[in-house]
Amino acid sequence: MDDRDRASAPAGDRPTGTGLYWDERRQFLMVEGVIARDIATFPLMPRPKRRMRTEAGDGPAPRAAAFDTLGGNTTLGIHLSEVPPGGEKQGHRHLDEATFYIVSGRGWSELRQADGLPDQRVDWQAGDVITIPSNAWHKHYNADPTQPALQLAFKNTRLLRKLFGSREFVYQNDFRFHDRYDDEADYWTRREAGDDGALRINAIHDVVNEPVEPDSSAGTAVGIRRYAMGGHRTIDHALLEIGVGGRTRPHRPLAEEAFVVLRGSGATRLWTDGGETTIEWTAGDLVSPPFGTWREHVQSGAEAVRLLRFRNSFIERALDIADAEALDGELPVRWPSVIECDRSAVVTPSGTEG
Ligand SMILES: [Fe+2]
Repeated sequence: MDDRDRASAPAGDRPTGTGLYWDERRQFLMVEGVIARDIATFPLMPRPKRRMRTEAGDGPAPRAAAFDTLGGNTTLGIHLSEVPPGGEKQGHRHLDEATFYIVSGRGWSELRQADGLPDQRVDWQAGDVITIPSNAWHKHYNADPTQPALQLAFKNTRLLRKLFGSREFVYQNDFRFHDRYDDEADYWTRREAGDDGALRINAIHDVVNEPVEPDSSAGTAVGIRRYAMGGHRTIDHALLEIGVGGRTRPHRPLAEEAFVVLRGSGATRLWTDGGETTIEWTAGDLVSPPFGTWREHVQSGAEAVRLLRFRNSFIERALDIADAEALDGELPVRWPSVIECDRSAVVTPSGTEG
């Protein structure tokens, strides 16, 4: 046991005014706010009711913190969790689309889609991004006997729980998305350009040094690379660069989002009709601008900024909006081209509608 096993936080299932509280039902330290600084050293709390149970007895309580309500979010889940030194986490499946960024440490994950096939192993270390396709079986291991590994997972869990209202449906579902992941031999190494401009990839090693493409429509000195990972339908991933002296254009996405500052320093200016605020950030911070606020990100200092951005884009997917950014913060309008169909246009063999 180390000091963090004795950590405590205000109890309760609702905000306390400190921005931190212990949710007993969910067994999570809940973190509120717009920014969580220095994720690698962020306090974690043990989850006693989520102990791994084995034939040898109960394992240690896993430690984690949940940033699910960062930015006031309700559909983008963000969990920071530890794989203990030399340890492992319980293998499981869930319908959640998940992608995690490795904050620190090194280890590997084993995944499979079909029962009866061997697990596929993907190794990871700090700075990598790994996807967990919906409902694929997976288990995480720490390869370091002395240091914990920290995973920051981005998920659509809360959206699924809202839609279906059933924990059992999300966690004990026999359906397999073979179209998303089918135990292919090259699953963890493939790298393909998609028709939509996103790179299809399932493991990104050393993401901070990935190439980006200049995008003058996104701002001044801004580059971007979009990734389609795990066959995810709603969790979107992008790497953004803001060069020295650069800034993104003001934007208001139709999605909840959060970003990890991978390199450099800068600030996010947020505003609504009611006021504005500016939040400074630096490498290692996690930032989630609240839904509905206008925002722009501004680089500072001598080094270009690199941000790893996650969004839950279910609104644009569900409404079939091709480019939400092009809406410029306006809601899409569907002006009808037809008010009522001409039902007499249907001709049946007998010559009358039927
Ligand atoms: Fe999982």
